[in-house]
Amino acid sequence: MRPTILMRTCLAVLFAWCLIATRAGAVEVEVLHWWTAGGEAAALGILKDRLKESGIDWKDVPVAGGGGTQAMTVLRARVTSGNPPVAVQMLGFDIVDWAELGVLADLNETAAAEHWDRVIPAAIQRFSKADGRWIAVPVDVHSVNWVWANQALLDELKIAQPRTWKDFIAALKKVKDSGRIALAHGGQPWQDATLFDSVVMLTGGPDFYRQALIDLDSEALDSDTMREVFDRMLVLRGFVDDNFSGRDWNLATAMVIRGEAAFQVMGDWVKGEFITAGKVPGKDFACFRFPGTENTVLFNSDQFVMFRVGGEMREAQLKLATAIMNPKFQSAFSVIKGSVPARTDVPDADFDACGKQGMADLARADAAGTLIGSMAHGHAAPAAVKNAFYDVITAHFNGELDTEEAIEELLDAVESVR
Ligand code: BGC
Repeated sequence: MRPTILMRTCLAVLFAWCLIATRAGAVEVEVLHWWTAGGEAAALGILKDRLKESGIDWKDVPVAGGGGTQAMTVLRARVTSGNPPVAVQMLGFDIVDWAELGVLADLNETAAAEHWDRVIPAAIQRFSKADGRWIAVPVDVHSVNWVWANQALLDELKIAQPRTWKDFIAALKKVKDSGRIALAHGGQPWQDATLFDSVVMLTGGPDFYRQALIDLDSEALDSDTMREVFDRMLVLRGFVDDNFSGRDWNLATAMVIRGEAAFQVMGDWVKGEFITAGKVPGKDFACFRFPGTENTVLFNSDQFVMFRVGGEMREAQLKLATAIMNPKFQSAFSVIKGSVPARTDVPDADFDACGKQGMADLARADAAGTLIGSMAHGHAAPAAVKNAFYDVITAHFNGELDTEEAIEELLDAVESVR
């Protein structure tokens, strides 16, 4: 029997009704984040798809701006007006600060059932828990002490991987002399601070980094080592192009991808941009640790913080938490994002050479006690201190302060927020 027009119309109406009914049943979860660059958005797409499978719709609240400064401003405004998002991407001490206000959800039951305690490194749990309660779900671990390079340019100029400050400067000079941009950089405070993180680690080593940027020890801040750090920042400033001011990090990456610039010093989210542009590590681009920091990992971990909600929203939150902690998700996400999984039990099989190195470095640094929180990305000190560092580092990088003035301002700033 051939379907009549009436039957076809009935079927179409039924199908549309089913579709509406399904959508109406789906819970919508509002998530605030700053993953707006190509690689970031592609990685986030994996989480959105997974949630859809669990009957949850994702309501996107993207706030552009690397490092999350702008996102945190929007978050404060939302909470002040009594309208917090259900989940928020957050870093380090920001999580601790929000937990102290008592507005975050308790995830302990899900964490216990899924044994999160056993698979998340202690250095990260320190920011996922408050008073013994899990209040955040770690999505990934990034690290900032990386250099990214255009392989064709390195080959053309016969530049081998620099392993010391001296070699790095020689390589930068070679590129500059060839008429190309040596260092792709975006002049935004969080990017200047990301560069500073690596220079502190190279110049002073892990103990000095801890004393100066985590313990905020005034002797370390007022030391010859710190003076050398600031002087080295000025040396690097000499290899940046004239248009660097205000440039977004992913636009700096695009300069390296296109071969206009040779190097970028930045966290491994940069790899997400190379990958989404179809580039291959070892062939089109090189990744290596910032010279002299090979044995340390300056980390930041993206976590999803859940605000306290009730009813079906709470259920959806827990589903989101479970989806994030799923080992297969952790692998698929980080393969694209450029990070490494926050869980220690995820195999490295699907990762490229940079990702495999990142995972091995993380495990080694964790065991050796050299897995250290990044100041620039909120894992060394609370936001008030971080912002004070940002101001001084940027003013110095832009020539508004000399090294002596920068040290003085740093001491004053730390004193005033202590
Ligand atoms: C975040 C990364 C992000 C980067 C640039 C960092 O603070 O941890 O996930 O890709 O900022 O937006």
